[in-house]
Amino acid sequence: MSDSKNLDDLQKIPGDKVRRLVRPHLLALRPYVPGRPAADVMREFGLSEVVKLASNENPAGPSPKAIAAIERLLPELHLYPDGAGQDVRGAIAQHVDLTAEHVFIGNGSDEVIKLIMETFLDAGDELLVPFPSFMSYTSSAAMVNARLVQVPLQEDFQYNLNDMVERVTPRTKVIVLCTPNNPTGTWLTHTQVAEFLQRIPDRVLVVIDEAYLEYVDTADRLDSLQFIREGRAVISLRTFSKMYGLAGLRLGYALADPSVLAYLQQVRLPFNVNAVAQAGCAAALADDEHVARSRALNAAGRAQYHVGLGRLGISYIPTQGNFLLARVGDGQAVFEALMRRGVIVRAGFAGLTEYIRISIGTKEQNERCLEALATLC
Ligand SMILES: Cc1ncc(COP(=O)(O)O)c(C=O)c1O
Repeated sequence: MSDSKNLDDLQKIPGDKVRRLVRPHLLALRPYVPGRPAADVMREFGLSEVVKLASNENPAGPSPKAIAAIERLLPELHLYPDGAGQDVRGAIAQHVDLTAEHVFIGNGSDEVIKLIMETFLDAGDELLVPFPSFMSYTSSAAMVNARLVQVPLQEDFQYNLNDMVERVTPRTKVIVLCTPNNPTGTWLTHTQVAEFLQRIPDRVLVVIDEAYLEYVDTADRLDSLQFIREGRAVISLRTFSKMYGLAGLRLGYALADPSVLAYLQQVRLPFNVNAVAQAGCAAALADDEHVARSRALNAAGRAQYHVGLGRLGISYIPTQGNFLLARVGDGQAVFEALMRRGVIVRAGFAGLTEYIRISIGTKEQNERCLEALATLC
């Protein structure tokens, strides 16, 4: 090896050296950019307080019962968690009237999404997802080099299920439906999903991401468990991060026939859900009062935005989630201007340049957001 070659190597940073070792399809991936932390924004803009309405969290906070259960567990943190998550799976099963074998838990539903893709998709296999929708489907599919088929929502952001059916090919292995859909807030009815499933070949796994299920208060509400009970290859994805106010704990779960979940059990890490999360989430499920309070807060917040945005002449997409898509013109510019005024929302969703997504907060937080919008629009 010549001296100059050695010199070249020395000048390279370690990341450059290992670049050729990285699996090629992973090179184009970019790290997930979450909503900006409040402390970060306060520092940058010299603000004494900010309102964060960017990550669809529950402004009511966690259930007091969850906090108490977590405190009770703390002296036992030297012990590994129950790897099988028996208690929390039992509590979830009881809550949905299925057996613990119908429940698979993960480190947030994000982890469950990733495990589903890793378990069922090989390079080149097709995954159908709505567009725009939650970005975890796209990034998880990219990790396994699956062929991502994004099926556009209609102009009013309603699903185009006919289009989805027509895009199924012999290579299609997994279809994801997200309802209510993040970031649009639009939703599917039970009848729509039931008719859709009748038109989808049995060999295709249908994943229904219901992270915002508990907020839905429309007629013909989706009951995905019916399809599981009927023996369909359907997975319902749910989470404690939204209505249960426990996003920081990281526990999401899949409900499906035990024979489907057995494959996920084979690939998960031995202790993928920590003991604190298991204890807190089991207790949260028993707190109906907290859920009722959270639901009422969200319903009032939705109404507040409907009135407030209406007054400002800003149109919005009807939502069944704890967030709302508002059409503000230049989404990125409004996002930045709101941030300077101490209100953090989300913008920059692919295909949604004219919109910002506002998570519904407390009455006071929503008021702050509407007041800030009034100075801009
Ligand atoms: C549709 C959807 N699915 C899944 C998740 C992830 O939830 P978790 O916190 O359980 O990972 C989110 C989070 O925003 C979401 O919007």
